[in-house]
Amino acid sequence: MISSDLISRFASIVGDKYAVTDAQALAPHLVEQRGLYQGNTPLMLRPGSVAEVQAILKLANETKTGVVPQGGNTGMSGGAIPFGEIILALTRLDKIREIDAASNALTAEAGVILANVQDAAEKADRLFPLSLGAEGSCTIGGNLSTNAGGTSAILHGTTRDLVLGVEVVLADGRIMNVLNKLKKDNTGYDLKHLFVGSEGTLGIITAAVLKLFPRPRSVETAFVGVPSPRAALDLLGLLQERAGGMVTSFELIARICVEFALRHGNGVRDPLAEQHPWYVLVELSSQLPQGNRALLEEILETGMERGFISDAMVAANLDQANALWSMRHQLTDTQKPEGGSIKHDVSVPVSSVPDFIAEASEAVVKLVPGSRPVPFGHLGDGNIHFNVSQPPGADKAKYMEGWHAMNDVVHGIAMKYHGSISAEHGIGKLKREMLTKVKDPVALEVMRALKKTLDPNGIMNPGKVL
Ligand code: FAD
Ligand code: MLT
Ligand code: ZN
Repeated sequence: MISSDLISRFASIVGDKYAVTDAQALAPHLVEQRGLYQGNTPLMLRPGSVAEVQAILKLANETKTGVVPQGGNTGMSGGAIPFGEIILALTRLDKIREIDAASNALTAEAGVILANVQDAAEKADRLFPLSLGAEGSCTIGGNLSTNAGGTSAILHGTTRDLVLGVEVVLADGRIMNVLNKLKKDNTGYDLKHLFVGSEGTLGIITAAVLKLFPRPRSVETAFVGVPSPRAALDLLGLLQERAGGMVTSFELIARICVEFALRHGNGVRDPLAEQHPWYVLVELSSQLPQGNRALLEEILETGMERGFISDAMVAANLDQANALWSMRHQLTDTQKPEGGSIKHDVSVPVSSVPDFIAEASEAVVKLVPGSRPVPFGHLGDGNIHFNVSQPPGADKAKYMEGWHAMNDVVHGIAMKYHGSISAEHGIGKLKREMLTKVKDPVALEVMRALKKTLDPNGIMNPGKVL
């Protein structure tokens, strides 16, 4: 319980206007995307400077007050939800401090919305490639803390691969500044990587230097009907062979996802004349202003001749390309009206994806007859969001009680293929128990030792990850 005296000491750091105690104002910060958790807090602090973040953590550390950092609150493992701790909201740290186009480096504060970084890069004739459905509200701090993946990881990697340096406020209020733009810097341990993916449990990221890339001169987008995930892999192989280094997205989508999007989405139309059991959304990017489209069409032709493509359309213009991506980014939300959805964010070796999907689909329907596998995701990364919707008309609450039992089955199959129980959404609160079952025990000991060293009083996002 945090005393009212302590609440006013915290409030005096940021000023009353940015010390939020009103229940209504707090409410949206206490629930997350999937409605799995109902959090609680007496106070949300919205610091306007790094110095204020430092003062907050210093006081929190002295008084052993738990702190939960929050960016856009779009996380999918409950990591940003407080259970009695105070929220430290980073959204006011929203400056882009520098764009150094020649060094291909952009320095952004933690609270900058991802879409704003994308826009700033484009204005400097550069690309910041991280892209995900929540890009209009997720923040750079959250992206680093969850090591977000997204739809272009196939070429550019995850957030971890897009960071040159970080500025972090440690649990005791000290600031660690390794914000450099250097392409090479071999001076001891690469500490930035410790904080990327740490989900607010080791310190507060207040700024980052992000890598920029050449802005492509042509981007082609295709929607391809294929008979199976194996056929999709054949297409991926052909694309890598003929256009390796240009494949910027390769998203697998099961027919049921398209059905849900047609039923519940906004402005969604079936992109192909016929229905197909599986689809792939492909994006090819090139620095050459011409020839990209012809190359993509030629590859699709070959795929049809070889029998692993049933039909395909190449977006004729930006509107058509945006319509395809709008459908893709609505897949999560359009599952909600279908009732309870038990989620899995797994990765397996790319070549094992078809067998994983087949085995997991059979297993979940056996476990819960009538349940509906709804697989989609970043096939190029071996990352499938193997979500399972309740049997139509079933009792949602009852179905959701089976979350852990179904997770155990699906995660067991992913582990059989030497995969991961969390490809991109992190551990948060949701997978904390599971982590102890699957992570190498010595790795867990090292993680705990690091946590103890950096946060001896356990104030940083308690109860998350470890
Ligand atoms: P929050 O949800 O606010 O926080 C996430 C975690 O980071 C929490 O543990 C929090 O404590 C911590 N944190 C936040 N800011 C800081 C900071 N400055 N310092 C330290 N810790 C901090 N994720 C993917 O990886 N790939 C996808 O394709 C993808 N698609 C999505 C689509 C939709 C429609 C939605 C709603 C979400 C999607 N996500 C995806 C999940 C989510 O958008 C990402 O995890 C994102 O990186 C979270 O950013 P955020 O600012 O919302 O973080
Ligand atoms: C996505 O790729 O759309 C998300 O990571 C998956 C999800 O929202 O479940
Ligand atoms: Zn995803």
